[in-house]
Amino acid sequence: MIVAIDGPAGAGKSTVARAVARALDIGYLDTGAMYRALTLRALRTGVPLDDGPALASLAADEPVTLTDGPGGMRVMMGADDVTMAIREADVTAAVSQVAAHPAVREQMVARQRQLMQHGDWVCDGRDIGSVVFPAAEVKVFLTASVDERARRRHAELVGRGERVDLRGIRDDVERRDQADSSRAASPLVVADGAVVVDTTGMGIDQVVEHIAGMAREVAR
Ligand code: DC
Repeated sequence: MIVAIDGPAGAGKSTVARAVARALDIGYLDTGAMYRALTLRALRTGVPLDDGPALASLAADEPVTLTDGPGGMRVMMGADDVTMAIREADVTAAVSQVAAHPAVREQMVARQRQLMQHGDWVCDGRDIGSVVFPAAEVKVFLTASVDERARRRHAELVGRGERVDLRGIRDDVERRDQADSSRAASPLVVADGAVVVDTTGMGIDQVVEHIAGMAREVAR
């Protein structure tokens, strides 16, 4: 079974998707982390962010590994643990540009299908229900208002000890929504058959139980 969770930045997808995977005791794949890891590698190696083919071959030549353990998800690039580095501001600012290249997406989608070809998975991203697994048994489009998503992201960064202002974060959330929804290759859309879950004002547990319940219903 595949549970596909798509939606805009800051909707809480990865927190919810990981918790749903735990509740159902199945695997979890964070596809955003794959785009982030590639972006980090491009920044470190100096591959231009506007060169789609070069970025795609960078993605092909050393696939990133993601493991979800009790201490949370770890992202490795070769022997290098980049779990924290892929969440930093320079990566966040550049990742939409990297993810917009069709050649990059082709590479990523193929790898995602390969990783999840066996077993049951919860997978979150932007194009899981629309492109990667259109036949996913459960499809959710998770969203929340721009203000709520900006507030959540602000709280997360402040919790990590970063000094950030809410207004700048709100602008960033809007800018990323715009970039992810308007790109030509696999724009963020509500996939056919997806259930829209608006989490504004909802607690995490409530959202997780709702989605896990949908999956249990399908599995019966
Ligand atoms: O979910 P996130 O913020 O970690 O995603 C990082 C970026 O990657 C975001 O700009 C959208 C892009 N992305 C994508 O285009 N397709 C996916 N399946 C996952 C993420």
